[in-house]
Amino acid sequence: MSKITVVGAGNVGATVANVLSMGDVVKEVVLLDIKGDFAKGKALDTWEQAPINYSSTFCRGTDNYEDTAGSDIVVITAGIPRKPGMSRDDLISTNAGIVTEVTKSVLQYSDNPIIIVVSNPLDVMTYAAFEAAGLDSSRVFGMAGILDTARYRAFLSEALKVSPKDIQAILLGGHGDTMVPLPRYTTVSGIPVTELIDLKVLDQIIERTKKGGGELVQLMGTSAWYAPGAGAAQMVECIVKDENRIFPCCAKLNGQYGLGDLFIGVPVKLGKEGIKEIIELDLNEGEMQLMHNSAGHVREVIDVFKNMS
Ligand code: LAC
Repeated sequence: MSKITVVGAGNVGATVANVLSMGDVVKEVVLLDIKGDFAKGKALDTWEQAPINYSSTFCRGTDNYEDTAGSDIVVITAGIPRKPGMSRDDLISTNAGIVTEVTKSVLQYSDNPIIIVVSNPLDVMTYAAFEAAGLDSSRVFGMAGILDTARYRAFLSEALKVSPKDIQAILLGGHGDTMVPLPRYTTVSGIPVTELIDLKVLDQIIERTKKGGGELVQLMGTSAWYAPGAGAAQMVECIVKDENRIFPCCAKLNGQYGLGDLFIGVPVKLGKEGIKEIIELDLNEGEMQLMHNSAGHVREVIDVFKNMS
């Protein structure tokens, strides 16, 4: 049985807490926010849903880090979301401070938790949490690839008129416009997608996926939460159940893909110790170039972060 802390009771954090609570796979979810009554209200509303949804997972809201003591997994969603016209990178100065402080506070009460970062700019906030935590890099990683592939899969599902359940995909790179969806590793129930779709339509879907977060910011005036929240909850469930699923996650590279000293999206095997393995795909030249281009962009934002501290 597991105790999960979700830091940040905004739209994404509350969705993670809600999806996890309704999933009935963990013992307790603690929802922490500096706005304590807001977190308590969100958690209480979630807990009051449990009898209807037939779940035993208790959800507690708080502004006190002591209540997070002994957490097995901490999901960090704290920080400000972007508004129309902003890129994720514009959030760095505010969110880097928040993520660093949250990570240090959490570690005062939990020894060796797994930390999943969701705050933006994602790749650099994961780096910031890793630096602040001093934990093994197998235990600090970020959620973005599940969200980005979910968008890609949803768009493909609509175009192909097949269930999204049957679309498998992997994606590399940073969580931004330079992300790298991989048609060569996209299948529909095992059938290569390139055999089923017009390549022009596939290109349009890839472009829409890269800007998928921005599309929602334009529509809503703030960033998305249902799919990001569900993505983070899926990672928690995979860890709690030690499922060994393969997901694209933001992980620290040590030479894989010819890259090091940065966090970026790659396929990993996820289970109860966190990242059990980073999977190195046999990329062709074009794919490798796109990955390195994305890494270059992530590195620029890491440099901004490093110069801040
Ligand atoms: C998105 C934000 C949460 O992609 O990064 O929707």
